Amino acid sequence: MKRKVLVVGCGGIGERHIRVLSGISDVELSICDINVDLLNRLKNTYKISDIYNIWSSIELEQFDTVVISTPAHLHVSMINNALQANCHVLCEKPLALSLEGIQKLIALSHEKNKTVGVAYIYRSMPALNLLREKIISGEIGYVKSVSFVVGSDYPFYRPDYKEIYYNDLSKGGGALHDAVSHMINYIEWCVGPIESIYCMARHLVLPGVDVEDTVSSIMTFENSDAIGTLALNQFQRTYGIMFDFVGTEGVLKFDGTTHSIGICKEPHREYVWSPKMSLDRDDYHRMQFENFFRAVDNHEPFICTLEEAETTLKTILAAHESVKLNRPVEVFKKHFHAPTLNTVKSFQLNKV
Ligand SMILES: NC(=O)c1ccc[n+]([C@@H]2O[C@H](COP(=O)([O-])OP(=O)(O)OC[C@H]3O[C@@H](n4cnc5c(N)ncnc54)[C@H](O)[C@@H]3O)[C@@H](O)[C@H]2O)c1
Repeated sequence: MKRKVLVVGCGGIGERHIRVLSGISDVELSICDINVDLLNRLKNTYKISDIYNIWSSIELEQFDTVVISTPAHLHVSMINNALQANCHVLCEKPLALSLEGIQKLIALSHEKNKTVGVAYIYRSMPALNLLREKIISGEIGYVKSVSFVVGSDYPFYRPDYKEIYYNDLSKGGGALHDAVSHMINYIEWCVGPIESIYCMARHLVLPGVDVEDTVSSIMTFENSDAIGTLALNQFQRTYGIMFDFVGTEGVLKFDGTTHSIGICKEPHREYVWSPKMSLDRDDYHRMQFENFFRAVDNHEPFICTLEEAETTLKTILAAHESVKLNRPVEVFKKHFHAPTLNTVKSFQLNKV
């Protein structure tokens, strides 16, 4: 039997979801957007069953799964509507822009016994899965330092950036909600929740917008005494993305331009690099849908749950607060101060 899937929000990422889903043989796809011209173009391009332009008038009960790719201020109410209609939900990041209503959503998802996942795509990338496995298996010992350096030319990837949600903090715009949340969500997956964050963020370069395009932050962790740093900008001329995890027994690196993992465990030796694991962007999203439908079929949690996306949202909200106050802001209370490798490992294994 076919899975009846509805995608709501058919813009940049929505069209990618539509393209990928229309290539999955057991999916029967319908779409919804407020832009009727866009709906008609997509209907003429992909294999689509029905099109809708008013979300509130759709009988959602007819669908098994709803994929939400509207801007973030709409996510919580749309997830709620889809759950009330007994649908599984895959929602784009960030989950929301405030914590309002999220505990109710989590309770509803359990009451309805439905899979609700948040589409933090790093969790479906092979190289970043391998990197995390190496951290969790203790290959570099205790992680003590995490350092992420990321930059890209956002207008090159999104020439219409001034006209979309990106230009409006209240719709999920700015580097913190839009881009940094991906990295924070990945760091939390590898090292556990962030305890406190000290963040500076400014609008420095991108013309025609006033949201922050440059971020530097320092963080501490709830379950370890590691220190993390993250620097990101959205204007540099060439794409660069490098993650470093430094442990007591070695160093792990992710080079995001090739999706290779480097490891160095001997003092003063070169890194040993894995093969390049970069794929076409659609392939990561195909893997994400495979993960999602597997979770639905096996009645398992998706690789990023509502609870985990809420944790990331708390960190991003604390980062915004830190920018305003110009001081570190606590995200979670620290539970213990001297982690052993076993406690770090068991925490991380619980998260798999
Ligand atoms: N995971 C990723 O790699 C990734 C990449 C890009 C964007 N995103 C996230 O996806 C979301 C959407 O981003 P985007 O770049 O596709 O934005 P976009 O502006 O290109 O597209 C949003 C679409 O939603 C539609 N829409 C708005 N209100 C609607 C409503 N009430 N009912 C139906 N449709 C409505 C708009 O008409 C538009 O077509 C954001 O939360 C963004 O952060 C995730």
